[in-house]
Amino acid sequence: MTTATAIACSNIALAKYWGKSPRGRNLTAVPSLSLTLSGLRTRTTVSVDATLSEDRVELGGSVASGRARERVVGLLDELRTLSRSRRFASVASHNDFPTASGLASSASGFAALALAAQAAFGLSLSRAEVSALARRGSASAARSLFPGFVELLAEAESAEPVAPGEQLDVEMLVAVTTLGPKETGSTDGMRHTQATSPYYPAWVTAAPVLFAEAKQALLARDLERLGAAMEHSTLLMHASMMAARPALIYLRDSTLRVMECVRQLRAAGSAAFFTMDAGPHVKVLVERANSARVSAALAAIPGVERVLASAPGPGAFLVEE
Ligand code: ADP
Ligand code: DP6
Repeated sequence: MTTATAIACSNIALAKYWGKSPRGRNLTAVPSLSLTLSGLRTRTTVSVDATLSEDRVELGGSVASGRARERVVGLLDELRTLSRSRRFASVASHNDFPTASGLASSASGFAALALAAQAAFGLSLSRAEVSALARRGSASAARSLFPGFVELLAEAESAEPVAPGEQLDVEMLVAVTTLGPKETGSTDGMRHTQATSPYYPAWVTAAPVLFAEAKQALLARDLERLGAAMEHSTLLMHASMMAARPALIYLRDSTLRVMECVRQLRAAGSAAFFTMDAGPHVKVLVERANSARVSAALAAIPGVERVLASAPGPGAFLVEE
């Protein structure tokens, strides 16, 4: 039996990915730019075991079935082909934050799985190869292999680092608004948007422009400009979802209250900018010097359950058991 364990942190897109390329293989239709966090972690152990007659997948202490299991088995199948192995594996994974609620569990989950599984199958893939493997499981996961600010270009096989976390003196605050899984996962949500929203083509046209603006601002250490592009990216993405039929609305009343609070804090002089993924939570990019003040203001908003503060974090890494 060969065993490997990996830890990966979640990442939050500043310029969003939403939509699949027609070329398939879970390539993305638009480029994205993210920040890997130091908090919101997944720990995954993979054991390749000659005595197993099928893969065994455990997520958060419960045996996984259906689609959640199939996604993991799909990644293991690729590694069996690459390593010319017929062995099955047992996978045990734990997210230290809510799963499938819009906090990017698929990102840290598939990054940790890809890194641990390739080691357990005796491969020593390069970072780019592990990123490509993770991408086929969940495209946002490709970015969690790298630390700090990371890009995944449209139709790219793997993500690439853009700048270290220290490029900006920032933290990400996660205002958790409701707990429990969402009704529509990201994969189904983006397929539905792509198939039915008349605003989807407009999103695909605008997204690369916003990505370029956000990247330029990041490289110039211009937080105000980055923040403006970041807010526009999330609002355009959500507008395209809301125009789907039936409408896909992940935002809740508490989400809007947090957005309003961020605008007010900004008007009062705090550099703080919001972004929302496929869920009701709000992630706020904030200058580190203002983090405690902004966090306290967010925590006081009705409907905000808690606020998690996270500095920029590391790329996925293997750990000794
Ligand atoms: P989220 O907003 O949490 O990323 P998604 O709908 O994008 O929500 O992805 C959630 C799905 O990702 C889960 O239903 C499961 O299939 C998969 N997933 C989450 N965590 C893990 C993990 N630790 N290991 C493997 N797969 C995971
Ligand atoms: C809104 O990477 O979860 O968080 O590739 O189908 O697994 P799949 O989708 P996923 O989508 C992430 C969407 C997003 C924006 C982002 O992270 O870029």
